[in-house]
Amino acid sequence: MQFTLQSQLPDSDSLLVPVVQNSGTDAVHELISQMTGIPADLVKADFKATLKEVQTLYYSRENQSRRIFLLGLGEKPRNSDIINAFRSFVHKRKTNLPQEIAVSFMHGTAPEQLAAWVECAANGLLLGCYDIGRYKTNNNKEGVPKLLLETVHLALPEEQLAPARQSLDKGVATAQTQLRIFDLVNAPANKKTPQTLADWALESGKEFGYSVQVLQKQALEQQGFHALLAVGRGSETDPVFIVLEYKPEQPPLRKIGLVGKGVTFDTGGISIKPSSNMHYMKSDMGGAAAVLGIVELAARLKLPFHLVGAIPATENSVDAKSIRPGDVIGSYNGKTIEVIDTDAEGRLILADGLSYVVRNFQPEVLIDLATLTGSCIRALGTYASGLFANNDDLANALLQAGEATGERLWRLPLWDEYRKELNSDVADIKNFSGSPAAGAITAAKFLEDFIEKHANWAHLDIAGMAMADSEFSSQKSATGYGIRLLAEFLEKLARQS
Ligand code: BES
Ligand code: MN
Ligand code: ZN
Repeated sequence: MQFTLQSQLPDSDSLLVPVVQNSGTDAVHELISQMTGIPADLVKADFKATLKEVQTLYYSRENQSRRIFLLGLGEKPRNSDIINAFRSFVHKRKTNLPQEIAVSFMHGTAPEQLAAWVECAANGLLLGCYDIGRYKTNNNKEGVPKLLLETVHLALPEEQLAPARQSLDKGVATAQTQLRIFDLVNAPANKKTPQTLADWALESGKEFGYSVQVLQKQALEQQGFHALLAVGRGSETDPVFIVLEYKPEQPPLRKIGLVGKGVTFDTGGISIKPSSNMHYMKSDMGGAAAVLGIVELAARLKLPFHLVGAIPATENSVDAKSIRPGDVIGSYNGKTIEVIDTDAEGRLILADGLSYVVRNFQPEVLIDLATLTGSCIRALGTYASGLFANNDDLANALLQAGEATGERLWRLPLWDEYRKELNSDVADIKNFSGSPAAGAITAAKFLEDFIEKHANWAHLDIAGMAMADSEFSSQKSATGYGIRLLAEFLEKLARQS
């Protein structure tokens, strides 16, 4: 898809006009009635501009058939609403769209919001093209165009063109990364091993200019990644540890460590999961996906931070070699862990990842993202991730980024009382309290034992957010959660530094 920016409405057969509900829409209606000859009161009566509402108007001018799509944005649309409105518009029509379309931001849009709108529109239009049917045999047949919409002309007032250029680039880059992350998260586990994540990182690093190091089994053994190796024991494919490092050209404002849970399939191990919904456990690398995505995007946008991404990647499988409940294992930082439940594997591999990053990189900010607990889904549902942080400024900055992007977070406590539940008789800590209460919090307390007393750490439990129900698929599918959230967090941090 190609985008152009123009200060005049191009003479296109198809025009898309986003409209905010109940705000200054008279100008839009007047214009439309002028163009089409359809009385303004009729259009007004039939189109309320609620979020995602579409009204198509047909008319002819100079003997050419033309159409206008009015796209409702609802009242006071948030950025995520605008993205979803454009995404939904393309998703519903797919191949029924014209090749070329003009989008008008000329009317009824507050100028201070225009740049953000352009970013969101471009982002949504591109995400709407996502094709989830990768493994369908009737896909990609020659002569069958996948998507007709090829050129999008964005029209906006002259003085807005310069700021909009940058926003457009950002919206496009973000979508391109998100689309590749959708593919990665939606991929089934027979097409996605730990090495697949490593290869993704290596290729991305080469293309966008950052370094990637992959520690294979032998290196993991030599360097003492005992917890990651323990979880990986029962799988046909070996675990890997992926380190991504992006450095800006200028001296970085800060060094930020990002750790993502990369379980490419979670059967639960010997503490096996029930089979209903187990297929969704192909998305148990959603945290890793967020880290891969944000490092790639930061490199594309040249954000002024030194980012260290770390991904412990493994499958959690059932096998004679699998760790058993009751087994005592080691870890990268030397603490011993009693494995009460092999399905609490995420915290085990994150333990190694967190201590590795702190010991080897000493980042000023440490953030981990993980599809960690069902308990978090029971607490917050699928509308927010659980946020745990030992620093209020960091927590508040992340909460704000969550509100701004619609990739919401809700803070939960890290009180020490919860840590007692993880005391083990035989080892330094156990990986499960044995009680169903406060599971997301005790998981976070477990991680805290492995951050080497880092004073600026946040843990995001994204179990309910990485895969979600939506209008874009009949089953749950990847959301790309975390990429826009962290991009906003970093950009705001850059503006304040
Ligand atoms: N990957 C799961 C958490 C999960 C559940 C993510 C549902 C997405 C959707 C994690 O490894 C897990 O199994 N957690 C257990 C921990 C328990 C055994 C202490 C859980 O939450 O049930
Ligand atoms: Mn599990
Ligand atoms: Zn898991």
